[in-house]
Amino acid sequence: MEITYLDNAASTWPKPTAVKQKMVECLEEYAANPGRGGHQLALRASKELFYTRAKIAKLFHVKNPNDIVFTLNATAALNLGIRGLLKPGDHVITTTLEHNSVRRPLEFLKKEIGVEISYVKPNSEYIFELESFRKEFRFNTALVVVSHASNLIGALAPVEEIGRLCKEKGVPFMVDASQSAGVFPIDVEKMNIQLLAFPGHKGLYGPQGTGGLYIHPELEISPIMVGGTGSHSEAIEQPLTRPDRYESGTQNTVGIVGLGAGVDFVLQTGVDQIREKEFSLTYELMSRLEQLEGVTLYGQSKEVERAAVVAFSIDGLDASEAAFILDHEYGIAVRSGYHCTPLGHETIGTLDQGVVRASFGYFNKMDDVKVLVKAIQEIMEKLKQ
Ligand code: ALA
Repeated sequence: MEITYLDNAASTWPKPTAVKQKMVECLEEYAANPGRGGHQLALRASKELFYTRAKIAKLFHVKNPNDIVFTLNATAALNLGIRGLLKPGDHVITTTLEHNSVRRPLEFLKKEIGVEISYVKPNSEYIFELESFRKEFRFNTALVVVSHASNLIGALAPVEEIGRLCKEKGVPFMVDASQSAGVFPIDVEKMNIQLLAFPGHKGLYGPQGTGGLYIHPELEISPIMVGGTGSHSEAIEQPLTRPDRYESGTQNTVGIVGLGAGVDFVLQTGVDQIREKEFSLTYELMSRLEQLEGVTLYGQSKEVERAAVVAFSIDGLDASEAAFILDHEYGIAVRSGYHCTPLGHETIGTLDQGVVRASFGYFNKMDDVKVLVKAIQEIMEKLKQ
């Protein structure tokens, strides 16, 4: 059965051919330990890691590539930023559309060290008003952390405006770019972002097991993991130099090299072109689903710019069952259920049912939209029988 892959918000697939080629080249030619040993292969591995860092720096307008730390994924980056920064008694402002990868580290710190959390809600049209953030600041607010684009309904947070507000208040601003990196322009300087967490395996088209955190050069955060860095080996204490301070243990060289090729693809194709293509697919799917009686769409109207995710439900059919039928009978891969954001489901009123989510990547085609809509129509017809 031919697969129609519509789960790009979880992991983009397929990847550009160069990603695989670069990973194979690394395995075959120089997969030695970067930063450990002065031999040629170790030096080449180190250099290649730096090249990927430099490409990511270019994409996010980071001045010094060494302020980008590689992590396993965005969750690890969010944990490093949140747990490395917050201290007992600190207050954090976040939103009700966050993924568990933001919410759980915050709630963990609330329980462990008494961190206080304010959750800002979007309005009834899923738009975040700046005033809702402004009124939450307290004397002990130490961080504002916001998802750039919701993984559930694709709604965008006004990151530039929130960044300006954080600058005015003198509070660090962290952005979870899990659904926006590689798709929406991100400029850490212009947006006043001090911590940017991003996955490698989504919009940057790298392999799974890659991701990273940008840390503003003047922001002091503690590493949450210490150990061998290959540098300052004689010292008992963790080195202070970046990125070593936050990168203990052997890196995922093969994966990071693949990520570099993914970022090349994004830079060459252009974030605007990627976003326009994904948005046109999103718009088309929403337009077609709107016509189907018995299908409910969630989130903002199709006219509003959003990340390329479409959340919907089919009357009389459980979300997981719908996804199972789409997969088994039609070869269509979508995600269903709770999407790691119970708070998001509470916000959109689907806590008791979950939703089906179709999400696009650059390699999807208009035909994929048609295939999904036809399958949904057939499923609905069968439900009536
Ligand atoms: N956070 C990813 C998703 O939304 C895995 O599916």
